Amino acid sequence: LASVEVNLSQVAPGQGIKVSWRGKPVFIQHLTPEQMAEAQNADLSGLRDAQTFEERTQEGHRQYLIQVGVCTHLGCIPSGTAAGEVKGDFNGWFCPCHGSHYDNAGRIRKGPAPTNLEVPEYTFLSDTNVRIG
Ligand code: FES
Repeated sequence: LASVEVNLSQVAPGQGIKVSWRGKPVFIQHLTPEQMAEAQNADLSGLRDAQTFEERTQEGHRQYLIQVGVCTHLGCIPSGTAAGEVKGDFNGWFCPCHGSHYDNAGRIRKGPAPTNLEVPEYTFLSDTNVRIG
């Protein structure tokens, strides 16, 4: 499918889900206000791929962080989306293949991955319906 529509009404703040899009996992995280503040206030100096939280989310829908769930190093699937998954050192995602740590906005912080987790194209159709792709 070129695009996929997802209903987020059952995804509570602090929860994350995985959906499939073009054969790849997409991680959708519903951030709590505290998580958003942490992502917004992060010190970006020295980051390999410095992007603000605003660049990684959409105005009006910033509580939803939407990312392709593929490590930008060699393509493994990082953990950290669902409850109980290892999140790594920065409250975000951890790739077990070679130890890349992404923060809670999906920015690469540590390990070999060259860039942040990719943010796909997406459009909100309503407050809780999003089309990816
Ligand atoms: Fe993720 Fe190498 S594939 S760290």
